[in-house]
Amino acid sequence: MVVEKNIPLQAFNTLRIVAKAHAMVRIRDVQDVQALLADPTWANEPKFVLGGGSNLVLTGDVKPLVLKVEVRGLRVVGETAKAVIVEAGAGENWHDFVTWTLDHNLPGLENMALIPGTVGAAPVQNVGAYGIELQDRFDALDAIDLHTGQLFTLNAAQCAFGYRDSVFKHASSGNAGAHQPLGLKDRALILRVRFALPKVWKPVLGYADIARKMEQYGVTTPTPRQIYDWVCEVRRAKLPDPAVIGNAGSFFKNPTVTAEQCADIIARDPKVVHYRLDDGSVKLAAGWLIDACGWKGKTVGQAGVYEKQALVLVNRGAGVDGNGATGGEVMTLAKAIQTSVYERFGLWLEPEPVVM
Ligand code: EPU
Repeated sequence: MVVEKNIPLQAFNTLRIVAKAHAMVRIRDVQDVQALLADPTWANEPKFVLGGGSNLVLTGDVKPLVLKVEVRGLRVVGETAKAVIVEAGAGENWHDFVTWTLDHNLPGLENMALIPGTVGAAPVQNVGAYGIELQDRFDALDAIDLHTGQLFTLNAAQCAFGYRDSVFKHASSGNAGAHQPLGLKDRALILRVRFALPKVWKPVLGYADIARKMEQYGVTTPTPRQIYDWVCEVRRAKLPDPAVIGNAGSFFKNPTVTAEQCADIIARDPKVVHYRLDDGSVKLAAGWLIDACGWKGKTVGQAGVYEKQALVLVNRGAGVDGNGATGGEVMTLAKAIQTSVYERFGLWLEPEPVVM
């Protein structure tokens, strides 16, 4: 185990914010974590688990010990009557993993192609796109408790998945009784994730962007590979490539409101983009709300709102060696957007990324 000191983190966060880790350890397997927890210097130090850094805003140097997850490996590990079980190391790139499954004739993840980040970060916020969420294909994951060093496995119910949410985003209440869900924020390091990919594959085509591609290409019964290609085309057309311009994907969650609140907003803004959910509530498109407040393409300091998608904040200044926006600038812009959306619609948008 090697603890590296004063490590620049610009290459390890997709917003390309300049910051340093005071100390960092690369985790290639469980033994690296166990060695760390056996070391009296580090065992009880605060720790921060870093995946692909694609859902992260760094507002300064990171003081907790950074655990950079680099657990590799992609393999088929079993099957059930209905599914093939594949396992991926937490440090694998998510999109490369999706591509690997299709190369091995194991469809089911194609709608989630090109989501930035790593496999291990995907369950933390239950990533999703174009009608499929991670939880729809999830089998189980192996993790290690950073307090006790114990290895454990969680199934989907134990991960408590929600919209961009899971047990890994919530702090422990401290008095975990039998009925108290135990939050695992800052406590668990995910090592491997297993997915159940359906043996009988059915395309998920409900989203307007996908429907438009079917029409454009004149295809009515697409293959998994065609859906994968279309999702990549759609994403490339409206989401910035972090390799070219720093960003953290959608910066805000789409807010959910009651039917009454929605009726009230529609009365004032008939064009508001909304989706009715099964439970009677309504999801609003945060991108539309932000756009309606005039933010698309705006810049504050070196942080900006992406020209083609108001839900994405970008770092305009970060060249290869450039400094670009600070995390503070990004958060100032985020706050200004939240305030103007609140003033117009009475809704406070919740950020998606972790702010450090
Ligand atoms: N819209 C505007 N102006 C904008 C942006 C959006 O009017 O500047 C409208 C669009 O026209 C559309 C609606 O808002 O009618 C929704 O936009 P879009 O289809 O782009 O999807 P989204 O709700 O903004 C969500 C996820 C994405 C995911 C896509 C596709 C969230 C916060 N975002 O975006 O996830 O890829 O659906 O399923 O749930 C991510 O989480 O990082 C992410 C990219």
